[in-house]
Amino acid sequence: MNLVHRKLCASAWWARRVGEILPGWLEGLRLGDDVLEIGPGFGATTRVLVDRVPTLTSLEIDEPSVRGLRAQFGERVEIVHGDGTAMPFPDGRFSAVVCFTMLHHVPSAQLQDRLFAEVRRVCARGACSALWTADPACRSACCTSTTPWSYSTP
Ligand SMILES: C[S@@+](CC[C@H](N)C(=O)[O-])C[C@H]1O[C@@H](n2cnc3c(N)ncnc32)[C@H](O)[C@@H]1O
Repeated sequence: MNLVHRKLCASAWWARRVGEILPGWLEGLRLGDDVLEIGPGFGATTRVLVDRVPTLTSLEIDEPSVRGLRAQFGERVEIVHGDGTAMPFPDGRFSAVVCFTMLHHVPSAQLQDRLFAEVRRVCARGACSALWTADPACRSACCTSTTPWSYSTP
């Protein structure tokens, strides 16, 4: 993340906007009881998810963010340090995989394809995947799906 993203995603304004918009968007999804979030960052989206799902795991690539998230959520969320393009989880583990405002941080189409393949791999049969890229404040590009899951890069 660059400095602007860091300031934005850590801000009270961002937390408020995510809190206003994300719950309504999640209402339409059947997340099930074992949910993976990829790229929690400073935890604004994690704070919305944590009270809505029985078991939440969040996978974050940035080590300082992992430390901050563990301090913030304690045992309420399993914070895993790792890469969404090579996930340290078994096949079919999760009832849903979600990620918000994160895909544009994966630096190439090849890596993004690898992330999509990993999302599909760790989703249980019939699981839901919901990937929201860009800025929830302006409600831009998102896609949702249940497995079998497919995505074609443009
Ligand atoms: C802009 S932040 C979004 C944080 C949060 N979802 C939100 O909306 O407030 C994107 C996060 O994705 C993380 N990230 C980027 N690439 C990743 C990858 N390959 N695997 C896991 N996390 C990644 C970044 O370190 C950063 O914390």
